Amino acid sequence: MNVVEVRGLRRSFGKVRAVDGLDLEVRKGEVFGLLGPNGSGKTTLIRILCGLLKADRGEATVLGESVGSRSYLMRTGYMPQEIALYEDLTVHENLKLFCGIYRVGKDELMEREREVLTMVDLYDRRGFVLSTLSGGQKHRISLAVAMVHSPELLFLDEPTVGVDPPLRAHFWDTFRKLKEEGRTVIMSTHYMDEAMNCDRIGMMRNGKLIALGTPVDIMRRTGSDSLEDAFLKMCGEVDG
Ligand SMILES: Nc1ncnc2c1ncn2[C@@H]1O[C@H](COP(=O)(O)OP(=O)(O)OP(=O)(O)O)[C@@H](O)[C@H]1O
Ligand SMILES: [Mg+2]
Repeated sequence: MNVVEVRGLRRSFGKVRAVDGLDLEVRKGEVFGLLGPNGSGKTTLIRILCGLLKADRGEATVLGESVGSRSYLMRTGYMPQEIALYEDLTVHENLKLFCGIYRVGKDELMEREREVLTMVDLYDRRGFVLSTLSGGQKHRISLAVAMVHSPELLFLDEPTVGVDPPLRAHFWDTFRKLKEEGRTVIMSTHYMDEAMNCDRIGMMRNGKLIALGTPVDIMRRTGSDSLEDAFLKMCGEVDG
C-alpha cells in the first residue's frame, strides 16, 4: 500500500522550479530518505505533502487523501527544517500545546510526553523554558513534538542536523521502532551514512527525482562503492 502518491508535481517560486514534474510513491512502513544538494527541492516537496504549500500542477495524495483536503494532517507528524516552537514556553507547555492541536486527550498527555521525551532523552528537561536549551536539544524537542500524537506518517526535514552521534544512533532506533509498528518515515538528509539506513531513497536535483531505489540498488546501478560516489555520478550525468 502506498501512503504517498505524487504525479507530475510542480511548484515554482518566480523563475525557480523548486519541484519540477515529480512522480513518487512511498510505501507504508518504509523509512524513505530524500537526498539532494541545497536548493534541490526537498523541503518544498515535504511542505506540499504536509499541506503547507500549494502545488502549481500535478496531483498528490497522502494516506489516500488529496493534499488539498488537509483532513489527513491529524494522522501525520511534521518536523520542519527550521525549529518552529515557542521559545518562551517550557518543553511541557510546548508539548501540551501541540497535544491540543492534535487532539490528544488529557489522560494520554502525560504518557505521550514521557514516551516522546524519553525517546529524545530529554524527559528531565520537561520543565525548562525552551530558550534555555541548546540548539541540538531544541532540535530533539522538535522531533518529540512531531511524534506526540503517534502519527502514522512522519515527515522529518533534516531531523538529525546538530544532533550528536550517540543520539543520532538513538534516533535511528526510534525510526526502526516506528517502522516495526507499521508507521512510515519520510526524511530528508545530507548524511550519506544515514541514507544507507533508509529502505529506499530518492535523489533530487533541480526539483527532479534523478534516482530512486534502495541504497544498494543505486550504488550498483552507478557502479559505485559508496552512496556519496553514486550521488556525485548521478549529479554529473544530469549536468553533463
Ligand atoms: N518561499 C520561497 N520563496 C522563494 N523561493 C523559494 C522558497 N522556498 C524555496 N525556494 C527556492 O526553491 C528551491 C528549492 O528550495 P528547497 O528549500 O525546497 O530546497 P532543499 O532541497 O530543501 O534545500 P536544503 O538542502 O538547503 O534544505 C531553492 O532554489 C529555493 O531558493
Ligand atoms: Mg531543505
